[in-house]
Amino acid sequence: MTDTEALIAAARTAARNAHAPYSRFAVGAALRMTDGSVITGANFENASYGLSLCAETVAVATASAQGRLSEIAEVAVIGGMMVDGVATGDVPVRPCGRCRQVLNEAAQIGRRDLRVFCAGAEGDAVEEHRLSELLPKAFGPADLGL
Ligand code: THU
Repeated sequence: MTDTEALIAAARTAARNAHAPYSRFAVGAALRMTDGSVITGANFENASYGLSLCAETVAVATASAQGRLSEIAEVAVIGGMMVDGVATGDVPVRPCGRCRQVLNEAAQIGRRDLRVFCAGAEGDAVEEHRLSELLPKAFGPADLGL
């Protein structure tokens, strides 16, 4: 298994813990840190729908809470509709706009253009992007002097 396949597998495992009873769309995110370790997150919905947190945001906040915001190098995102509690489908899921901005915080603090892998809950289709391509001309910490 390649490093990319392992990161996608970690995101798929994380998606099993998605709390997504409202959308029934499970998302998992996995962050490859500069030392090779992996931090994951899953979407965390709320009965007050607008309070829901995306998988990527949960993963980045977890890294930050560990003092490791600047160490994020690569991201894998997967997702799909849950059928009988299991995420399904092979269409690659790309980070939403808010998550791109959240990822940009890590990218600029770490001075790294993040590699972003997008896949479905199942299957072999993988898209590879750079965050600078997903969120061009971003506003971020650099604009505030960081
Ligand atoms: N979702 C994510 O977790 N990440 C994204 O980038 C796109 C959307 C979640 C939010 C919500 O819980 C569900 O997917 C359906 O929108």
